[in-house]
Amino acid sequence: MPGDLKVKRAKAPSGVDMWVVSDYHLARRILSDKRFSRSLAAGPEGAKMGITDPSPESIISMDGQEHAKLRRLVAGTFTQSRIAELQPFVETLAAELLDEMASRGPQGDLVSGLAAPLPMHVICHVMGIPLEDREYFAGHVAVLFDLTGAPGDGEGRTLSLIRYMTSLIARKRQEKKRGTDLISALIEACDSDGKLTNRAMVTLCLAILTAGYETTVDQISLTLLDLLRRPENADALRNKPSLIPQFTEDALRTNPSVTTTFARMATEPVEVAGLTIGAGEAVIVDILGANYGLAEFESHESSRPMHLTFGYGVHRCLGAHLAKIQLIAAIRGVLTRLPPVSLAEDIHALEWKTGHATRGLNRLLVSW
Ligand code: HEM
Repeated sequence: MPGDLKVKRAKAPSGVDMWVVSDYHLARRILSDKRFSRSLAAGPEGAKMGITDPSPESIISMDGQEHAKLRRLVAGTFTQSRIAELQPFVETLAAELLDEMASRGPQGDLVSGLAAPLPMHVICHVMGIPLEDREYFAGHVAVLFDLTGAPGDGEGRTLSLIRYMTSLIARKRQEKKRGTDLISALIEACDSDGKLTNRAMVTLCLAILTAGYETTVDQISLTLLDLLRRPENADALRNKPSLIPQFTEDALRTNPSVTTTFARMATEPVEVAGLTIGAGEAVIVDILGANYGLAEFESHESSRPMHLTFGYGVHRCLGAHLAKIQLIAAIRGVLTRLPPVSLAEDIHALEWKTGHATRGLNRLLVSW
């Protein structure tokens, strides 16, 4: 192992030692190997990353059949074809937010004006959370990603989010006619054949909310930053909008908001790149490193393997399609609803988020 940077040792913010895998092919092997368990890592003796580790009862903290059962319940809502139906709605939302910004111009903040409110509207819509609750959510969901806040504060807000979801589910249960949203579908599954307990439903909804909100906010701001840093990109996409999806994939690969997976714990000794990861030892995948090291990305487009920004294997991001349509809508919106924009502050003065599990910007000021 010495000198081999594909796998190295590092300390998580929690102080726990972990193996960090930065090689694309090794990363895929580990993320699809059942001997690396999420449930062990998320358990009481597990490998914590920081104070915001997902609950041991969350979908991302389960293995095998238990995980597959939950995933089946929600997968239908997030398929490529179901999500494609939402595209016009998402494009309209982005356009409205940007028109609002344009009316207040000639300067605006693309984070508070677009990157933050768009995913909140969208996730509320998909889950069936009343839109008037979205500000409450923005405050409470963000804290779940905060690695620096006082633990008491985070726990208090998590509890009030749990209370809120419990009461929302109870309210929706009373409704005479079931909605077409995710929570209504889960209530149906829960009530018709007991597939899900009430508590499991609350945990699942919260897991989707927390996984899907800040990750997307940050990815939108990072992708827009890529667009602004090279005005020739914006010109090319304006002239040929069919290039927007590939630009989005490139931004996801090279500038991801999520830079590591959660930890997995080895259930038995496993040989990896000539070294042995012992039973009970933790491994995380360095997504950014694995994406960059992927030589095949340089080769022909047709043989491009998928980047790891949405993970890999059974826990691969449930919301990947949903995130992508929001990124595309954000880019298209900025190119078509605002006059040509440029960064309104020096690139070195950009304010990056600190103490969060995701990478992103606090603010992205542009002028036109
Ligand atoms: C650009 C935005 C996003 C990024 C970069 C991202 C990234 C990821 C990654 C890397 C994982 C796997 C973590 C691991 O294996 O340790 C994951 C899982 C997950 N993501 Fe996302 N995500 C994004 C948006 C979303 C959205 C919009 C939703 C839902 C609405 C969502 C819901 C989930 C869920 C529920 C899981 C756990 C899946 C499972 O355990 O089966 N994510 N995401």
